[in-house]
Amino acid sequence: MLIAQLSDTHIKPAGRLAYQRVDTTALLDQALAHLKTLPQQPDLLLLTGDLVDAGSAEEYARLRAQLETVTIPWLLIPGNHDDREQMRAAFPAHPWVPAAGFWQYVAQESHWPLRLIGLDTLNPGQSGGLLCEERLAWLAQQLAAAPATPTLVAMHHPPFTTGIGHMDDIGLTGREAFGDILAAHPQVQLVICGHLHRNIRATVGGRAVMTAPSTAHTVQLDIARDAAPMFRMEPPGYLLHWWSGEGLVTHQVFSEPTEGPFPFFDEGGQLLL
Ligand SMILES: [Fe+2]
Ligand SMILES: [Fe+2]
Repeated sequence: MLIAQLSDTHIKPAGRLAYQRVDTTALLDQALAHLKTLPQQPDLLLLTGDLVDAGSAEEYARLRAQLETVTIPWLLIPGNHDDREQMRAAFPAHPWVPAAGFWQYVAQESHWPLRLIGLDTLNPGQSGGLLCEERLAWLAQQLAAAPATPTLVAMHHPPFTTGIGHMDDIGLTGREAFGDILAAHPQVQLVICGHLHRNIRATVGGRAVMTAPSTAHTVQLDIARDAAPMFRMEPPGYLLHWWSGEGLVTHQVFSEPTEGPFPFFDEGGQLLL
C-alpha cells in the first residue's frame, strides 16, 4: 500500500496569494501533476490540514475543483486554518467522517494492510492545536479495538517540540496524554502530521512521528526560542508512505520539475566514470 501525504495546501480565494507572495493553488496543481508522474500510483491521497487559508466556502470550492481532477481516493483532516462546518458543506460525501462534531475517523478497507486514524486537532479561533479529553478518549478507544492491526495516525499539529520557537508557541495542547496513549499501543507504526511546512522526525511515546513538507511554502529553519516567524521557498513536496509488509517506509518527494533520470551505466554495462 502506498499513501501520498500532501499537507498545508493553504488554498486562497481566486487571485489572492498567501502572504502576498505564494501562489498556493498553482503549487498544489504542481504537486498533483507530479503525483501522476510517479512510477507507482498511490492507493490513497491524504491531506493533513491547513487545506485552505481562511476556512471560507470559496477556498474549499477551489480545493474541491482541484481534487476532482485526481482519480485516486483522497481523505482530508483539518488544520488550524480550516473550518469544520465549511469542510462538511464542501465535502458532504467524505467517507468515514461523522455528520457532526469532530472531523475524525477510522479509515479501513478490507484490502488495506493498515488502519488509518485521522484525528482532529482543530481548536476554533486558535492557531495552536488541542486534543481534549473527549478526543483523547476516542483515540484510546479506537486503538484498543484493534491492538493487532498496524495503524497509521494522521493529525495536523505535531505532538512534539520542534525547536522553532514561534511554531512551538502554536503547538499541540494534550500532547503528553497523547504520548501516553501511543506508548500503550505498539501497533501504531507512525504518526504523520503537518503544520510545520517541513519534514521533521521525532519519537513520541516510543513511536515514530513526522511532519510533512508543504506543497507550497516552507517555515524558515531556525531552532531558536525567539526565532522570527518567517518563511522561504525551499523546494516544495510531499511524502510517500509505503507499507513494505514489515513496516512503513517514508520517502520525501520534491514536486518541482527536476532533471533526470540519468543512467549510472553505459550501454555496455560499464559504470559511467
Ligand atoms: Fe500550514
Ligand atoms: Fe497549521
